[in-house]
Amino acid sequence: MEITICVGSSCHLKGSRDVIKILERLITLHRLEDRITLKGSFCMGECSKKGVCVCVDSDRFNVAPLNAELFFNDVILKRIN
Ligand code: FES
Repeated sequence: MEITICVGSSCHLKGSRDVIKILERLITLHRLEDRITLKGSFCMGECSKKGVCVCVDSDRFNVAPLNAELFFNDVILKRIN
């Protein structure tokens, strides 16, 4: 699975670095390093939405640092299992 996180200026201000750190930690915790690739991307054209733009395979989500763990449990773990 590929997860792409926007690191454009608007998403950077909304906490993309924190979202990346949280996802990295959870991927390691669940030992999914071999199954998930994290990537960064420039602006994905969704700056006006709340949260950081995150693309999982080809679906887009908006993720704030505060709900990154919930996003991981609800979206990533469900899709990967
Ligand atoms: S900066 Fe992330 S969608 Fe524009």
